[in-house]
Amino acid sequence: MTPYRKVAQYKSTQALAQRWKELGVSIPMDDKILSASEDSPLATPFQFGALTVGNRWCIHPMEGWDAETDGRPTLRTLTRWKNFGASGAKLIWGGEAAAVQPDGRANPNQTLAVGENREGLTALLRACKETHFDHWGTRDDFVVGLQLTHSGRFCRPEGKAFRPRMAYRHPLLDAKYGLDSNDDSLLWKDHELQGLKANYIQAAQLAQAVGFQFVDIKCCHGYLLHEFLSARSRRGGYGGDYEGRTRFLFEILDGVQAACPDLELGVRLSFFDTSPYHREEEEGRPMPFEDLLPYGHGFGVSESNPTEPDLEEPRRLIGDLFNKGVACVNLTCGSPYYSPHIQRPAIFPPSDGYPPPEDPLQGVARQISIARDVKRFFPEGTFVGSGYSYLQDYLPHVAQAVVREGWIDSVGLGRMVLSYPTLPGDCLTGKSVQRKQICRTFSDCTTGPRIGLASGCYPLDDLYKTSSDHQVIKDYKAAQKNG
Ligand SMILES: Cc1cc2nc3c(=O)[nH]c(=O)nc-3n(C[C@H](O)[C@H](O)[C@H](O)COP(=O)(O)O)c2cc1C
Ligand code: SF4
Repeated sequence: MTPYRKVAQYKSTQALAQRWKELGVSIPMDDKILSASEDSPLATPFQFGALTVGNRWCIHPMEGWDAETDGRPTLRTLTRWKNFGASGAKLIWGGEAAAVQPDGRANPNQTLAVGENREGLTALLRACKETHFDHWGTRDDFVVGLQLTHSGRFCRPEGKAFRPRMAYRHPLLDAKYGLDSNDDSLLWKDHELQGLKANYIQAAQLAQAVGFQFVDIKCCHGYLLHEFLSARSRRGGYGGDYEGRTRFLFEILDGVQAACPDLELGVRLSFFDTSPYHREEEEGRPMPFEDLLPYGHGFGVSESNPTEPDLEEPRRLIGDLFNKGVACVNLTCGSPYYSPHIQRPAIFPPSDGYPPPEDPLQGVARQISIARDVKRFFPEGTFVGSGYSYLQDYLPHVAQAVVREGWIDSVGLGRMVLSYPTLPGDCLTGKSVQRKQICRTFSDCTTGPRIGLASGCYPLDDLYKTSSDHQVIKDYKAAQKNG
């Protein structure tokens, strides 16, 4: 039983404002949702490099674990991308993480950004853009990119077993996942990285040829490029100091820019983190890190207390990314594997998670206010913010206010778009918000993949609700509850 009050129990913006006060945070929030014709700040365009994005709503990448095993989309994958197109948001940040090589997938049903899947990527983009046109009558201010990834220590290309290819040995994560810390074959050798870089560049060329307007070089959530940023203990050219740890990311960015000069670039960055958490006596707690101080195994965390953010290096990196010509940075944090409570705040944990160690509203406030600090530091930079879905009924009220106040340029939706794809459009056209479709953070969209099923909103989306997999998830959760 969670000790935290659910968002639906806050009956007004005033009641929620009181809770922000109790938590000691200050989050702006409008009382009324404004439509585009009432001059909603969310209806204003902004620049993504040379591209104009028609409004301030963004759809975050949401991997579905539902492609064919050769990376081609299935009907479900296409349906999700159509929903993205119909949503009313004018920026589709990557659609979903597409792996640049088959063994870099986080699951056997991940979309692949390889030449053999050219038709599949074309179909996804077409589905998204055509649906957008059908609903909104134009594509001119609609910007769609593709997120490129390698899953690093979280590769699972064949099924349940992890097949890690990582940047360095992490004492806590190796222990959490039962990895043999003497097995150096799991580590990338410097010379092997050249082949991986070439695959990123080819994937970007493919994305451009297919018609995507930008690529996101994914650098978040514990996957490979994010892991490199904390590879202080790695020897050779791609670890150690800041220059070494960022070298591989910058080499990829340089390579993509040289091969695709007209393609815009984005980076989705976990700009702060925490040391890994685990379930302990039915609570989420940090794994013991005291013997590892000063802590050298995280990016954007304090050396003396790695459960606290330290933004010095992330700020330096963001400055370097903009100097390199990255058009927009999508700010996210942590990892869904070892710190889900900061990355996707939820009242109900996923099957491999832990009960929330803080009021999930605190997690939302952390992402929003640290993003504000970063935006203040780079007022000319363009940023997308994350972690809003837990706000539920009050998401539009906060989204509107943070954009008006200049805290963020664009508000991204993750889980909410699975349960309620048309929330942005409903707000912009002045339709009433459909409360029954609001994501209540049941986490089934994360639990599904963790037990080998597709991701989707099983409790609220009829496509998944009526599927046989829904019963499998219910049975699994019941068995977990009964020990
Ligand atoms: C089922 C699922 C799949 C996700 N897939 C991706 C992904 O492919 N790439 C990515 O950068 N983030 C991914 N995320 C993270 C979301 O984009 C987002 O950052 C996170 O859910 C927090 O935002 P929210 O509070 O709006 O859900 C995924 C999240 C979920 C729940
Ligand atoms: S399963 Fe649906 S309600 Fe639950 S977190 Fe995912 S999108 Fe939200």
